[in-house]
Amino acid sequence: YVLSRGQGVLQDTQVVITAGGTKEAIDPVRELTNRSSGKMGYALAVAALAAGANVTLISTTGQLPAFGINYIPVADAREMQQALTDHFDTTDIVIMAAAVADWRPRAVAQEKLKKQPGQETWHLDLVRNPDILAHLGTIKTHQFLVGFAAETQDLLANATKKLSSKRADMLVANNVGGDGVGFGADNNAVTVLQPDAAPISLSKAPKTEIAVQLINIIGRAQSAQQ
Ligand code: CTP
Ligand code: CA
Repeated sequence: YVLSRGQGVLQDTQVVITAGGTKEAIDPVRELTNRSSGKMGYALAVAALAAGANVTLISTTGQLPAFGINYIPVADAREMQQALTDHFDTTDIVIMAAAVADWRPRAVAQEKLKKQPGQETWHLDLVRNPDILAHLGTIKTHQFLVGFAAETQDLLANATKKLSSKRADMLVANNVGGDGVGFGADNNAVTVLQPDAAPISLSKAPKTEIAVQLINIIGRAQSAQQ
């Protein structure tokens, strides 16, 4: 369907949003990934467009967004980092809703890996992926950086640590182990953390509605910081 840019809190800002779980290749037929669906990122992209932004969506899901949203398909963490780096100078707001794989296979096999006769176990050698958000935190000038913290326990304590360690301007704490919320679900419930403001809790609602509320909070915080 076709969307046209609306008017609102993000009028004429450049917004880049990432969505989905990165897919780290093992061989030509296998990959390492996670349970992120990309729904939150896609909902944020639509809400940002409706709020007047020029939106670029960097996504791993292979799903075309609504017409009117600039779309950059990527697969793995390093491709996502490259796409963000290419757009960073001209971006006002980055929203990292993607679930970036923390690890990738050390090497990608050129041919499909075969089982050996009698082989009962297999060890996959993994190396750390770059922390994309933390890196952007070290090179940012005017950009407003929003991260998501995916947690199954100690939600606010862990998310507060990520807010400062990644030098983000806002961290959306997301309980992904909850009942009917988080990874893959249509609903979400989040708490918004900022360095010098009280936490804002958004109670369980469809991701489309959470997205509209988040875009309002992000838009106001970003313009207050300019
Ligand atoms: N992130 C990133 N690059 C990575 C890992 C995470 O940019 N290599 C971003 C995510 O997109 C998210 C935020 O950092 O916006 C927090 O991701 P999360 O997985 O919750 O935190 P980690 O720092 O990876 O810590 P851990 O998974 O060990 O809890
Ligand atoms: Ca992680």
